[in-house]
Amino acid sequence: MPELACVNGQVMPISEAKIPIEDRGLQFGDSVYEVVRAYSGHLWLFDRHMQRLKMSLDEIGIEGVKLEEVEAQVKMLLKRSGIGDAIVYLQITRGVTPRSHVIPRNITPNVIITVRHVPQTPEELYTTGVKAVLLNDTRWARRDIKTTNLLPNILALNEARRRGAFEAILVEQADGTVTEGSHTNVFAVVNGVLRTPPADHRILPGVTREFVIELAAREGIEVNIAPLPVTELMEAEEVFLTGTLIEILGVTVLENKMVGSGTVGTITKRLHRAFREEVRKAIESSEA
Ligand code: PDD
Repeated sequence: MPELACVNGQVMPISEAKIPIEDRGLQFGDSVYEVVRAYSGHLWLFDRHMQRLKMSLDEIGIEGVKLEEVEAQVKMLLKRSGIGDAIVYLQITRGVTPRSHVIPRNITPNVIITVRHVPQTPEELYTTGVKAVLLNDTRWARRDIKTTNLLPNILALNEARRRGAFEAILVEQADGTVTEGSHTNVFAVVNGVLRTPPADHRILPGVTREFVIELAAREGIEVNIAPLPVTELMEAEEVFLTGTLIEILGVTVLENKMVGSGTVGTITKRLHRAFREEVRKAIESSEA
């Protein structure tokens, strides 16, 4: 099963795909992206990813992208790769110009898509849970836009990994509230209520986050979406992370302190079971 790239409609092996050095995505991080997962060839929550991509493009004013074409290219590339459990990376840069801070007019965006095998999260992590550490959120004020400016995210994750943790949970210095993980959203269970920060400018409105909130409501779990002080997170019965790659992953150790009893909590497990059941149903109905 070949891992493939599609650059402006041209399909090739990933190793052969190229972008000019004066692409604004490379020089300024002037680009947006999405990461979509396919399960057994079914693009999971694809419409929501495309809606968020549109929002990101609109917010930074990248114009002239035909999203129906991009959507068709994603589907075509996934099919051609033959990879069932795939990770689709989709990046749109503003395009190529001689380097200038000024955004030029009439520039043609570059559309880059890759399809790869999913880097599997080891299944035992869903049973044991993972460790997370707390770090200051040093990012800009528009974290709701999914741009490729990920330097603070990758440095935070690198620091977390250096400390033996799976994820860095980021904290807003101004008010001591939790924002999100370096590449995940954060939930906590406090007194039996599911808590997560609001989808304002301070976090990425995760597609998985949104789906989990809907799932919780369907499961009869009380949900409270409001700023989450880090002190509350530290006292939570359960903490979990959500994201396209990891789905729903329990945090059992936070800053070297056990979360709850130190095992993956019942609400976390229940939601993850319900999540996988929804994936199973979506695959079934797409095959029907
Ligand atoms: N990251 N928050 C941040 C900062 C993220 O980068 C991501 C996803 C999420 C979770 O969003 P979603 O549920 O839509 O995947 C939250 C992707 C997977 C990445 O950059 O690889």
